[in-house]
Amino acid sequence: MKNVIADSLKVTVARTLDQVVMAMTLRGVIYLGEQQAPYTEEYDGNDLVGASHLIAWKDEEPVGVLRLRWFADFAKVERAAVLERYRRDGVMRLLMQEALRYAARRGYRKVIGHAQLNRVKYWRTHGFRVREDRPHFFFSDYEYVEIERKLVPPANAITDATDPMVLIRPDGDWDRPGPFDRSLERLQNSAGKKKAEEAA
Ligand SMILES: CC(C)(COP(=O)(O)OP(=O)(O)OC[C@H]1O[C@@H](n2cnc3c(N)ncnc32)[C@H](O)[C@@H]1OP(=O)(O)O)[C@@H](O)C(=O)NCCC(=O)NCCS
Repeated sequence: MKNVIADSLKVTVARTLDQVVMAMTLRGVIYLGEQQAPYTEEYDGNDLVGASHLIAWKDEEPVGVLRLRWFADFAKVERAAVLERYRRDGVMRLLMQEALRYAARRGYRKVIGHAQLNRVKYWRTHGFRVREDRPHFFFSDYEYVEIERKLVPPANAITDATDPMVLIRPDGDWDRPGPFDRSLERLQNSAGKKKAEEAA
């Protein structure tokens, strides 16, 4: 049977300032509004440094977000949030699948997270397990455990041997021509022009 809900969902990486603002707006509604988180705890100084924001779209509407932070040999998933009226439709499932796929393509072998105790069961359904021999900890009024998930980078994972023309494409969108691929048209056009001038 065709999954109509999943078909109308997609996930993109926030690559422009307006899309970063979009991700922050959704988090404002969910964490500041619904969960009444203090502003400085929600916007913690980690949104613009070593981080990517994924946005889930239902048709033209941004409905969910997830922040990935990139460390040397692990990535960390954070700030998973879906607008209340779009919950229980698998939005987070798709966001997490895409986050894991993106991190693996970037070459990561491990993703960690901090899970509220009552959400551990849910994160297990995303393949995470509670990290052993690590103490529970507390912040923002909740008790947390560390969770982790192993990743297997695909054969075309990004490495220092990746084709430089692929490496300079928009991050996470490495399989389609980017602006620098299109810049080659200028080279071809000017080479064609030069040839025509020489022939004239
Ligand atoms: C946690 C959160 C991100 C989940 O987003 P979501 O898009 O609703 O996630 P999913 O649809 O993948 O699954 C959520 C639940 O719906 C269930 N579900 C999913 N599709 C379903 C369906 N078609 N029918 C019935 N249940 C369904 C899942 O099993 C899961 O169950 P649970 O809540 O009992 O564990 C969302 O509830 C949220 O934004 N909460 C507020 C912010 C927050 O707490 N973030 C997490 C911080 S650790």
